[in-house]
Order: sequence, then C-alpha cells, then structure tokens
Amino acid sequence: TSLDDIKAKGKLVLGLDDAFPPMGFKDENQNIVGFDIDLAREVCKRMGVELVVQPISWDAKELELSTKNIDCIWNGMTYNEERAKSMTLSIPYMKNTQVTVVLTSSDVNTLADLAGKVVAIQNGSTASDAIDANADFKNSLKELVKVDDNVQALLDLKVSGSDAVVMDEVVARYYTEKEAGTYKILDETLADEDYIVGFRKGDKSLCAEVEKYLKEMAADGTLAKISETWFGK
Ligand code: ARG
Repeated sequence: TSLDDIKAKGKLVLGLDDAFPPMGFKDENQNIVGFDIDLAREVCKRMGVELVVQPISWDAKELELSTKNIDCIWNGMTYNEERAKSMTLSIPYMKNTQVTVVLTSSDVNTLADLAGKVVAIQNGSTASDAIDANADFKNSLKELVKVDDNVQALLDLKVSGSDAVVMDEVVARYYTEKEAGTYKILDETLADEDYIVGFRKGDKSLCAEVEKYLKEMAADGTLAKISETWFGK
C-alpha cells in the first residue's frame, strides 16, 4: 500500500511553493519553515518517518505528484472539485478566505471600485475559482493577470503593474503585518475555503494515516500550539 511504501522508504516528501508565508516559506537563513511544515513534521514524527521538503512550482503541483517527485502537496491548498478528481484529499485542517489586497495609498475600498482595473492572481490557485464565482466582479475588470507567486503579485502592485491582488487571507495578513502601512485588505471577501493535504490519486492508506494524526493533534492540543506560533491564536 501507499503507507507501506512510505514506511519502507522512511520518508515523506512534501511539495510546496516556498514563497507562501506563513504556511511554508524560506526564512532569512534559507530554511523552509511555516505552519504547514511544523504540522507535517509532527505528523511524520508520529508516523516514524523523516520529513523531506521539496520546493515546486505551484502551477505544476499535479504533475510533481503524479510523476512521484513528491508524495504530497501540503501548502495551504484549498479543496475544490477538480482537485478531488485528480488527487486523494485529506479532511480539512484549517479555514481560509480569498481576500483582495491593494496599496494603502489606493483609492480602491470595495470590489466595485475595481471596475475597469487590473487584478492579479497566482497561476493555478483557487483565487481564480473565487473570481469565477463572482461573475459581476469578474466582468467588471479590465484584465485578470496570472503570475507565478504571490511575492511577485504584491511587488507588481508597487510598480503599478496591477491594481489589486486576490489571494489567501493568511498570506495577505502576513504581508500586511510585515510591511506595515503598505497594503490594505478590502473588507468585502470573495470566498470561504478549506485547506486540505493532497496525495496521489489512490494513495488512500497514506492519506488515512495522516488524517489519523491530524485528528489526534487537534484533540491533544498540538494543532492549537502550532497555530499559536504562526497566527498568534
Ligand atoms: N489556497 C489557494 C489554492 O489552493 C492558493 C494556494 C497557493 N498556495 C501556494 N502554496 N502557493 O490554490
């Protein structure tokens, strides 16, 4: 089974976009850290295997999984039906919202204010689903541009490459706090989501084992502790 394979190999290879703080990112010493990393490390410890962290391009995640370059995608990945068809997905372990970020200096305060403007999102992200689900908003835009990661998307705002970025709230909060005064998050949100872990289609025993420890960690307070480290709550 998939679980036997991982145990025989003695390691679980976790794929992530390493520009996705605070879920998974490179710190100043180039170590990959984050909420998802701490969670996965503890699950691996309980499973008795080593955690190996492998940076990938977010847009290529399904391919990285199917070619066995990685064993799971654990990086603030949102549940959607398409992913449920192409992967085996875990139970949700955290909630997220899609929000819109603009510069503090911008006169945009509502989604309606973005009519005729340029909005950026990360390639292969569910920001796209959230925008599709709000057709009036989508149709009001001048252009929807796709970039490789959110760091790039936020940089583009500063050089007027775009007017707003739609992204995960947890990540948006991280940057608004880190660069205080630079960005604001609109009060109006676009979609509520669940974060899940993705495994190769059919890797059910591995998924079930990880879920077992996720539940155990929710019950014994480990999840709350890791959450406090990264989100302060
Ligand atoms: N939660 C969104 C999604 O699943 C955005 C995730 C982008 N994640 C990342 N690690 N780059 O698509």
